[in-house]
Amino acid sequence: MKIIASFLIPALMLFSSTDALIPITVKGKRFIKPNSDASTQGEVFFIKGIDYQPGGSSGYDSSSGEDALSDPDTCYRDAYAFQQLGINTLRIYSLNPDSNHDECMTIFNNAGIYLILDVNSGEQGASLNRADPASSYNSGYLSRVFKFIEAFKNYPNVLGFFSGNEVINDESNYAEISPNYIRAVQRDMKQYIAKHSNRTIPVGYSAADSVTLRRATFEYLQCFIDGDEDDSSRSDFFGLNSYEWCSGTSNWANSGFENLNSTLSNTTLPLFFSEFGCNKNLPRTFDEVSDGLFGGLVNTFSGGLVYEYTEEPSHYGVVDLNDDGSITYKEDFDNLKNEFANSSLPTILEDDVEEADIVTCNADIVTDIYPSFGANFTIPEQPKEIADLIENGVDTDNVGKLLDDVEAKKSNYTIYDHSSNEVESATVRFEASNEINTQSGVVVSSKAEPSSSSSVQAAASTSEESSTAGSSSSSGDGVMNIYVPTYGIWSLIMLVVSYAI
Ligand SMILES: *[C@@H]1O[C@H](CO)[C@@H](O)[C@H](O)[C@H]1NC(C)=O
Ligand SMILES: *[C@@H]1O[C@H](CO)[C@@H](O)[C@H](O)[C@H]1NC(C)=O
Ligand SMILES: *[C@@H]1O[C@H](CO)[C@@H](O)[C@H](O)[C@H]1NC(C)=O
Ligand SMILES: *[C@@H]1O[C@H](CO)[C@@H](O)[C@H](O)[C@H]1NC(C)=O
Ligand SMILES: *[C@@H]1O[C@H](CO)[C@@H](O)[C@H](O)[C@H]1NC(C)=O
Ligand SMILES: *[C@@H]1O[C@H](CO)[C@@H](O)[C@H](O)[C@H]1NC(C)=O
Repeated sequence: MKIIASFLIPALMLFSSTDALIPITVKGKRFIKPNSDASTQGEVFFIKGIDYQPGGSSGYDSSSGEDALSDPDTCYRDAYAFQQLGINTLRIYSLNPDSNHDECMTIFNNAGIYLILDVNSGEQGASLNRADPASSYNSGYLSRVFKFIEAFKNYPNVLGFFSGNEVINDESNYAEISPNYIRAVQRDMKQYIAKHSNRTIPVGYSAADSVTLRRATFEYLQCFIDGDEDDSSRSDFFGLNSYEWCSGTSNWANSGFENLNSTLSNTTLPLFFSEFGCNKNLPRTFDEVSDGLFGGLVNTFSGGLVYEYTEEPSHYGVVDLNDDGSITYKEDFDNLKNEFANSSLPTILEDDVEEADIVTCNADIVTDIYPSFGANFTIPEQPKEIADLIENGVDTDNVGKLLDDVEAKKSNYTIYDHSSNEVESATVRFEASNEINTQSGVVVSSKAEPSSSSSVQAAASTSEESSTAGSSSSSGDGVMNIYVPTYGIWSLIMLVVSYAI
């Protein structure tokens, strides 16, 4: 059996009119970046990423009202540095669902940067407690998760959400008791997104760096319970935290990468490193990028995120964050930049990506890999309070959106290269194609979907040409024939709708 395109159709149908960077979708084991011309197929998207948490996770304090995406000057500074590094994706571990992220999210969007966000934080009640998942799985926790989804669901550059990070690990009996609670949280998140978001946002998990445990976790999360293709507790992607390859001393065979490639080659979902970059040998040369991740692993993995951007006490940074808010590139920064620049990635067209098989869950497959894994496929029931939150939506007025008046400019925080010379022209580049919805160029004849007035307004304010198409597509029922040069997404939606009907 194959996973039919039902996963993609809602994603395209419900495309919001203010979308800018085109949202990434999932097909089989790959992420797909749709083409900006809707009549042309998309391409496989490889993550060239970095983990981003200036100040460290312990620096996150919800009572401050601030987080990694609340200071636009920081975001201007770092968006420039990200473009120098050549990265396209960030992971952020702790964010405040009550803070305003519009300006930073717009800066990153316009700069061409996607984000994969952990919906949890280390604060009390803001994640599953791996030692006691049953009591921490409650409506207080889930209402924070749902507020988080509300805060980020309307940004097109959100690539996905992590439901958990290293919750299942090899300490104590955590691998025994937590797995089905991860699935419960994923089920609830995906149900919430299906009901309250205008597109399907992928939800997945980030696994600890333990060779047998991570493979058991992968098998546990990639399958469909009872072979039911609507099983919403399944992961849409799988991130591994991997520190097996140390710069300078590791290679394909002795690093464990060869083993990763052979044991995970049958994956039915996108795999990537949610953290990588062993720091045993400093400065790091990141040869695992060209020789591993974008070398031998490229048929199995879809890239990864280096741990991490800023230097913190654990010494994994590629920049030093100075007291005055300036940053200084470390040698690791230049090395990583060269590695990303020197890696040649294959171009894979969407049509050449196979739909994945529906793998039916089987506890024996999991426990054969890790005997004390709690391969329990009876997922905890959804408490009524959580069902009500999904039905009615969580109470929040913090629903983020992209802004259309954010300019490309230089941060007022200084950037120094690794010889401590100021980088003079550190102005972020905004690509015009990221700033507006440019998916275009389909001629269709179909029933029009009535569209909401707010999306028509948003379209008009984003692009002048778009207002015509926006109003014609909002003109009501009936059959219409339109050619839309810059606002083709509505045409695409109609094409999909007509196909579905
Ligand atoms: C998204 O969907 C909601 C309904 O769930 C609608 O009110 C809103 O206008 C849509 N937003 C955009 C930007 O299309
Ligand atoms: C992958 O699938 C093939 C064909 O079904 C099978 O022979 C092989 O054992 C599988 N590999 C792993 C690591 O599961
Ligand atoms: C990694 O696995 C893929 C898929 O099985 C295979 O095509 C590729 O040759 C492997 N890479 C190496 C370097 O062995
Ligand atoms: C590629 O790597 C070489 C070292 O092998 C380096 O000198 C060069 O600058 C890199 N090229 C780019 C475009 O970064
Ligand atoms: C599996 O999980 C369900 C739901 O939490 C629980 O009721 C059941 O006791 C668990 N089964 C085992 C064997 O632990
Ligand atoms: C940068 O500007 C912000 C306001 O936009 C201000 O709060 C901050 O102190 C400024 N930083 C520097 C280094 O000038």
